[in-house]
This record gives sequence, structure tokens and C-alpha cells, in this order.
Amino acid sequence: MRTEQLVRTFVEFYEERGHRRITGSTLLPPPGDPVLFTTSGMHPLTPYLKGRPHPLGRRLVNVQRCLRTTDLDEVGDTTHLTVFEMLGTWSLGDYEGPASLEWGYELLTEGLGVDPGLLHATVFGGDERTGPDTASLELWQGLGVPVEPTAEDNWWPNGSEGTVGPCGPDSEIFLWSGDGPPQSTPTRDNRWVEVWNHVTMTHHRLGDGSLVPLPQRNVDTGLGLERLASLLQGKPSVFACDLFDPWRRLVPALWELDEPSLRLVCDHLRSAVVILGDGVRPANTGRGYVLRRLVRRVLTALRRDDPSRSIGDLPEELVRHTLDHFRQETREMRPEFVLRMLRKEEDRFGRLLERGRQVLARARFQGPLSEEDFHYLHDTHGLPRELITSLREG
Ligand code: ALA
Repeated sequence: MRTEQLVRTFVEFYEERGHRRITGSTLLPPPGDPVLFTTSGMHPLTPYLKGRPHPLGRRLVNVQRCLRTTDLDEVGDTTHLTVFEMLGTWSLGDYEGPASLEWGYELLTEGLGVDPGLLHATVFGGDERTGPDTASLELWQGLGVPVEPTAEDNWWPNGSEGTVGPCGPDSEIFLWSGDGPPQSTPTRDNRWVEVWNHVTMTHHRLGDGSLVPLPQRNVDTGLGLERLASLLQGKPSVFACDLFDPWRRLVPALWELDEPSLRLVCDHLRSAVVILGDGVRPANTGRGYVLRRLVRRVLTALRRDDPSRSIGDLPEELVRHTLDHFRQETREMRPEFVLRMLRKEEDRFGRLLERGRQVLARARFQGPLSEEDFHYLHDTHGLPRELITSLREG
């Protein structure tokens, strides 16, 4: 099943169940949102999750592009992307979590043909503040899907991203990606790949960490499009699903890279194009710095084996394919313009490297570097730590 068909099946399934499709937003969250980039489909909906009536009603569905930098070091494995698409559904004070999970199960197994024996779920097992999610646990048990209760892993948002805002217990659906029959559980075996998260959004987390109940109980779900597509297509990684076809055809012909580097280069370049397409420009802070870092990581990977490699050689077709997929091409946002911006950034990086080599050749920097040295090199010469380390290794 190609991703386009997957998206259509998903959206129609929810439309038939009373959901209205909303248009996805750009990667830039609305003003006042604490995150730098949209990291999940719910960000543009925050006011409605907090109780404002949505003009299209209480049941919504969409496709939202998202960007996560918390997983940057994991890009290169089989499941992580920097920019990815999330298929999302919402109940704004309407139906509850178990109803959402039941539909999710029906869509995966009947609508998309996933073997029920390859599914595993996790649910919130309770912590010192909130009781366990027994309704979801019982739903999974009733459907005969193995289920594992956890604490931190099943509270959204977890980790460092978005510590304030709407939150609540979640139930995640995993698919078995291993060769043999399923084994173990999602927390113990990473061949269980998380594809769909169903959050019962009951609370708002404040800056001091305290939880305040929301005026309504919502359900917010997010399904990772590329992950599910690659599993349905029987591919070994997200980079092998059909969305990456032109990348896999053109990039290896241009640059000879090992598989993890190829994945990193494709992911970061594609992400950089989307970020530029949403109007961000390279800078030393904020969103622009995320973009700059992605481009520099690509350049570092490319030049490791051959310093003459240049982003300038990137085929325009790949830029066009990406802008087209994310519907970003306009009269101003043309592939030539995006390529020009990438080349400019490459030149800038080249000058920085040159300066870095000269500065690091000084006697003072021959031995081990102290924290003070790193600060000096960053503040006075604009050399980031990552770059200093790679220059010294090279
Ligand atoms: N907001 C939830 C997530 O991103 C669905 O996992």
C-alpha cells in the first residue's frame, strides 16, 4: 500500500465516523506555543483542547508535518526521522479513549490488513499523582491484544519536549517488525515499533510541573505515517518506504555512503528543504539554528570521506519532490531558491572550517581542551563544540 492510499484510507475511515478533515499547519507553531517547531499534530489545536469550540465540531482528523530534534542522534536507525508526518484524530470533549482505541484496532486490522497477532499495546500503569488507565487495559484485554502497563512511557508529553500544555495518560500501539514470531514486550525489545499513540488529554501541565484538569476530556491520537507505511510495505526502515524512492535512487548515485550515513544525509537534507519551505532561514539561534545544524551535520557526513563533495550537486528533482509533497512550492519558494540557500550555507560553513583549522593549529589548542577553551572558541571564533571535536579528530 502506497502512502497516498494509506492517508486516504485513514482519513475516509474517520470521516465515515463523523470526523471533519482540517488542513495541516506549517512546522511553525502558533504564537504563544512553548515549542520551537510543531512536534505533534496537537500543537495547532491547543486552544481547542483547552475548551474553545472548534468551528468544525468535536471530531477532527488531519495530516500534520512535524519536526523533532530530541531524536536527532537516533536518525540513521530504522525508525527515526527529523521531519515526519503524523496522521491525527481528535475528540474534543466527545468520545473517550477506549472508543478511540477500538477504532484504531479496527482500522489497522480490517482497513489496513495488519495481522492482529503482530500487535502489542502499552497503557498507563499509574503513578503517585494519577491512577492506572484500567479502561484502556480492559479494552485491549477484551480484544485479545497483549498489553504492558508502564508509567513514564505512557504519559504524554514525556521527556523534555513540551513540558507545559495539555497532557494525559496514553496508550501506544506497537507493530512487530522482527523476522520470526513476536517476542517479549515493547519496553524490552525494540523490534516492537511504536506506530500510534492515543492520548486521553485530561490535564494541563503548568510551568511549575503541577497538573490542572482541563475543562473537557479530549482524545488526541498521532500515527507515524512513514513508520506504518514502511511496515505495511514490508520494508526494513522508514527510509525504504515509497516517500523516499527518489532519494534512494539519486543520492547513492551521487555520493557513496554507508547505510546509516545515507539515511542521515537523506533525512537531514529533506528536513532542511521543508524547514526552508516553511520560511525559516539559517541563523545562530532558535529555528534557524536547527536548520543550520542539520545542514552542517550533512556536510560533516559528506566530507568525511571526500572533502570535495558539495550540497550544490543535489539534484533539483529531490528539492522539487519534497516541496511538492509538502505543498510548499510557490512563486517565491522555488527549488532553485532553496538550492541557492543551501549552497550559501555550505559556503559559510566552508569559511568557518577554514578559520577553525587555523585557530586550532595554534600551540594553545594542541593538548586536551578545557571547558574554558570550548567557550572561548565558540564565543570568539564562532566554532561550535561539535565542529571543534570533528576538526580535531580529522
Ligand atoms: N500527541 C501525541 C503524540 O505526539 C498523539 O504522540
